[in-house]
Amino acid sequence: MEKLKWGLIGGGEGSQIGPAHRLGAGLDALFEFTAGALDHRPDAGRDYGQRLGLQKDRAYGDWQEMLDREKNRKDQIDLVTVATPNSTHFEITKSFLEAGFHVLCEKPMTMTVQEAEDIVRISEKTGQICAVNYGYSGYSLVRHMRAMVARGDLGAVRLVKAEFAHGHHADAADADNPRVRWRYDPTQIGVSAQFADCGIHAMHMASFVTDQEVTTLSADTVSCIPVRTLEDDAMVNFRMDKGTVGRLWTSSIALGRQHGLTLQVFGEKGGLSWSQEQPNQLYWMPLNGRLQTIERGEADLSPEADRSTRVTIGHAEGMPLAFANIYRDLAEVISAQKEGRPIDPAANMVPTAKDGLRSMAAVYAVAESGAKNGLWVDARPPIFQ
Ligand SMILES: NC(=O)c1ccc[n+]([C@@H]2O[C@H](COP(=O)([O-])OP(=O)(O)OC[C@H]3O[C@@H](n4cnc5c(N)ncnc54)[C@H](O)[C@@H]3O)[C@@H](O)[C@H]2O)c1
Repeated sequence: MEKLKWGLIGGGEGSQIGPAHRLGAGLDALFEFTAGALDHRPDAGRDYGQRLGLQKDRAYGDWQEMLDREKNRKDQIDLVTVATPNSTHFEITKSFLEAGFHVLCEKPMTMTVQEAEDIVRISEKTGQICAVNYGYSGYSLVRHMRAMVARGDLGAVRLVKAEFAHGHHADAADADNPRVRWRYDPTQIGVSAQFADCGIHAMHMASFVTDQEVTTLSADTVSCIPVRTLEDDAMVNFRMDKGTVGRLWTSSIALGRQHGLTLQVFGEKGGLSWSQEQPNQLYWMPLNGRLQTIERGEADLSPEADRSTRVTIGHAEGMPLAFANIYRDLAEVISAQKEGRPIDPAANMVPTAKDGLRSMAAVYAVAESGAKNGLWVDARPPIFQ
């Protein structure tokens, strides 16, 4: 497989998610970090890019300059990651797709359902891949959960319970802190705050593991810190297309919770429980059996789990390595397209623009239901109804 050229937009010095992308993209040496527009301040972006090893002429000041120059190069990048703030995702992703680049966009993919539908259509029309970084789906044991559900270990899945509840915006004194305030301001963040930021990860995880789509939902959204316009806590009940019942709690005021992404899946024949903060253990309770701990990296796991394991058993493996699985799978999908050969089916589970669109539809459904005292509403994107 030929080494692919990778570009990054956003992820500047001090950003939260930039380092995880660089580690993830770099782990398998399938991608070479070739171009970047890393910062909203052009000089800072150019400087940081060069310190990270980019050639001077490919450490760009802004994404438009990067697009204009890269599209005219013979050795142009194969994939660009968009890791800028949410409100910029649509324009950047659309522009790069239309210019013939594959894109990995951070979540949420867009700000509206209409924009998300546009991205799905553009990706289908151009044939360019648009992946969305639901990076937690790259964890070995998350993929093992999915494999256990698919091979019938749990029987029919009755109930899924997902949480993404942390306590990092619990200080009421932060209400006027500009670094926090914008996150709850509809003019900057759209119709939803906490659900759009974190809840969609939990909902994607429920869909990914059960291989089901959310059809309807009812939401109780609340601003526990009253000056906030948008929700800092939500409880969402939902239904899935093969009959599974869903419960989802997301919060940013849950003091004592750190990251707080967890998933529990309860079937006729057994239950599974996994937490992002202890990602190397999965708890399995077979019906009438005893609670078992499944360790990442141990023998006799599914091929999906084996393939996604990167360090030996007993050594902690965390989020950048989950991102590395997304990047490795993307490298396979892009290389297969370039080489005109079928994609290795084991690599074909990267979240796509369709997942990004489903999330956006769920965000709007949560906002609508929350405003209507929990009315059950359709959560499917119009083009999938
Ligand atoms: N998938 C995940 O698990 C995960 C986790 C955290 C954040 N995110 C997403 O990643 C995105 C970035 O989040 P973050 O927490 O890293 O934000 P951040 O504020 O820490 O960093 C944003 C970076 O983007 C740069 N930037 C802003 N506008 C830009 C522009 N127009 N062109 C180039 N660079 C620009 C900033 O200078 C900064 O370096 C968000 O969409 C967020 O939702 C995803």
